[in-house]
Amino acid sequence: MKHENTLFSKNLLNWYDINKRTLPWRSESDPYRIWLSEIMLQQTQTERVSHYYFKWLKRFPSLKSVAKAKEESLLKVWEGLGYYNRCRNFHSAAKTVIKDYNGKIPKEFKLFKSLPGIGDYTAAAVLSIAFDIPFPAIDGNIKRVMARMLRIKTITKYNFRRVQKELENFIDKTRPGDFNQALMDLGNQVCRPNQAHCYACPMKSFCRAAQTDHPEQYPRPELSKDIPHYDVVLGLIWKKGRFLILKRDNRKHLGGLWELPGGKIDYRESPEKALIREIKEECNVDVILGKNTDPIKHRYSHFAITVRAFHCQLYNGKKVFSNQPNRWITPQQIIKFPFPKANHKLFAKINFDADNI
Ligand code: ADE
Repeated sequence: MKHENTLFSKNLLNWYDINKRTLPWRSESDPYRIWLSEIMLQQTQTERVSHYYFKWLKRFPSLKSVAKAKEESLLKVWEGLGYYNRCRNFHSAAKTVIKDYNGKIPKEFKLFKSLPGIGDYTAAAVLSIAFDIPFPAIDGNIKRVMARMLRIKTITKYNFRRVQKELENFIDKTRPGDFNQALMDLGNQVCRPNQAHCYACPMKSFCRAAQTDHPEQYPRPELSKDIPHYDVVLGLIWKKGRFLILKRDNRKHLGGLWELPGGKIDYRESPEKALIREIKEECNVDVILGKNTDPIKHRYSHFAITVRAFHCQLYNGKKVFSNQPNRWITPQQIIKFPFPKANHKLFAKINFDADNI
């Protein structure tokens, strides 16, 4: 058994040393940078993360600089990366580490995991990569690779525990971070969801699915989910060359970002009627509508939207009253505020010099 364990990690690490992906955070030993990369990599592909990782570090080179920053400046740098809770949680976790742990990331699994935004996977990834502590970090790729290794059809709680036990047994005690990342890379480059490429796999002698005709059937592929679609209408309410923006509630999807007033169009409602209703609800004012933009489409993880905007004028000179923080901004100030991606797609459709009425 001991021999088999050693061979497992030896084969894997030999493969990794030759085939690993070159990623910016891989040459790092600074735990802050490794932590940042793992937060950015949650639910986001490596190719998309690199740009944001560099941009962030230029602005916030240390954990202390994150802790001291305003949430809105952090969100502005995060803008476009999505899942903004990650950014707000990272801010609050950074503040705790500076305040309660003397600026040092706690190495104890339970303590680190108790910080906002850190789950089992992220705690294990950061502690193994930054401090060589042998915790298996089980992300989606590793789950699939190990399900094939053990020929598991369905990843039940019981089977997940089996995977975890197996990895705790196999993990390399001197290079646990590389061990975890090697399995991630294997899943990304060789043991792909729809093609297992067993001919290129250094682990095939350990793999029970590789001995079958259809290794891709492990784990059983999930049916793709249909996600709901919503039609959304937004208003550019103009006043003296400025338009109104509102800040989204922190507890909501895209919390802490700014948006245009508006909302979902109800069943059988016209976009115009929906917008007038939404603006009345959100800002307690009446508007008259002008030109509208072409619609844009955007897909989030759980739903998709089609969004259009109307230029609007205030109708009876009443003052906007909203429970949300609000600002009147010029088009030039758009770059100063974090907005959801869908808003930027919409802004790109507007000719700000000519369109506003
Ligand atoms: N996904 C999440 N963390 C990663 C890492 N350290 N390397 C490659 N892919 C990852």
